[in-house]
Amino acid sequence: MPSGDDALEPLRAALRVSPDNIPLRRHLADTLLALGRADEAAKEYRAALAQEPANAALKIGLATAFYHQGKDSAALVIVEDLIKADDTPGRAYVLHARLLVKAGDVERAVRQYKKGSAADPAAADPEFASRLGITPDDAPPRRTEEDEVVDGRVRGRAEGSGAPPDTTLERPAVSFKDVGGMDALKEEIKMKIIYPLLHPEMYKAYGKAIGGGILMYGPPGCGKTHLARATAGEVKAGFIAVGINDVLDMWIGQSERNLHETFQRARDNKPCVLFFDEVDALGASRTDMRQSAGRQLINQFLSEMDGIASANDGVLILAATNAPWHLDSAFRRPGRFDRILFVPPPDAPARAAVLRILCKGKPLGDLDYDHVADKAVGFSGADLKSVVDVAIEKKLRDAMREGVPKPLATRDLLDATATLKPSTKEWFATARNYALYSNQGGIYDDILKFLKL
Ligand SMILES: Nc1ncnc2c1ncn2[C@@H]1O[C@H](COP(=O)(O)OP(=O)(O)O)[C@@H](O)[C@H]1O
Ligand SMILES: [Mg+2]
Repeated sequence: MPSGDDALEPLRAALRVSPDNIPLRRHLADTLLALGRADEAAKEYRAALAQEPANAALKIGLATAFYHQGKDSAALVIVEDLIKADDTPGRAYVLHARLLVKAGDVERAVRQYKKGSAADPAAADPEFASRLGITPDDAPPRRTEEDEVVDGRVRGRAEGSGAPPDTTLERPAVSFKDVGGMDALKEEIKMKIIYPLLHPEMYKAYGKAIGGGILMYGPPGCGKTHLARATAGEVKAGFIAVGINDVLDMWIGQSERNLHETFQRARDNKPCVLFFDEVDALGASRTDMRQSAGRQLINQFLSEMDGIASANDGVLILAATNAPWHLDSAFRRPGRFDRILFVPPPDAPARAAVLRILCKGKPLGDLDYDHVADKAVGFSGADLKSVVDVAIEKKLRDAMREGVPKPLATRDLLDATATLKPSTKEWFATARNYALYSNQGGIYDDILKFLKL
């Protein structure tokens, strides 16, 4: 019999009598953790959290258990969330420091450790501190302006509140005409989700199934979010953008509820485009999440999607990711994201179109958009936006100095282009490897084609 069971048996017996006693269950969990039995401890923390989801002490317990199980990303999700909350227990900062050290960010770890041990001296760990290079007579940490210590907890006034996900319903004013290039994608979105919404009887007549969503992937700044918003504007639908990281809430029950509420909000406001950004956060990269809470969340997501397919109820699903290789393969099954589309950086004609859109409404001279586009090789839509911003700023400065406004000219855009670098290279360096070595089912063929490999 493992040591320590003597102390555990009375606790377990008491819990059998009053299973809803949270302090008692927490005591059992803490004891298990102290005995190095992290798996069992995690189970008890979860059970208690299911009843009291906002209990910070339980959250830290669970995060610590995850840490000891080597489930660092799961631990990190909880700790980051705790740090965002109003009053962060000192232990959360110390645990954050441990996770940061493992991730190689010693500098930040030192800061977090000092914050934590100042807030709660009981959270201090001299051995860990010395590993961080912090000596005992180190000057006491200076807290930042916005932190105050109340009752052994650091209260970060500047940080967010940890409130439920913000699912603001928008009515976008932009439509497809505000999106330059991306013609194939627009067409795909029309066929797959706009026409079924406008002409359901036609689809029925041809026996074509309705439902499923479109997943866009590609380098950042190339218009995924912009196009999703424009899709809603195109059909005068509502638009709800959900950052998956906002929904993620590691302990059982919470994330699923967040997700369900989001889908429900869309159903209540149909027609509505429900757009999931950074959908890869639900992915297999967080391998330690797959077994438990993460797995459940994925299943919840999929069943909400399936529900929409069968109800055919005017909720259009789009999703985007910069890291498709982290996405769980379950998303790719028919009826779900069965259209996975690569959003490349704009080609020259598309760059000209984007520039034209970005310059609309500004004082313009005779502008040769094609010429500028030719010089902006590799630029994303966001990069082009910077080009226009830089050019306009310079124009404004000249106007202020000379007292006469002058229209934007080709030269201005060319000059701005020369000062900026395309931002998509790095993404392709990563994508190339996945496309070459992890291209199951040819899902990255479009990347290979784009790179001419
Ligand atoms: N095709 C495009 N047409 C017009 N503007 C674009 C286009 N692509 C990108 N932009 C501009 O760049 C910004 C960033 O694009 P975004 O949609 O956020 O990129 P992503 O979601 O792919 O990272 C947009 O807000 C928009 O101003
Ligand atoms: Mg985006």
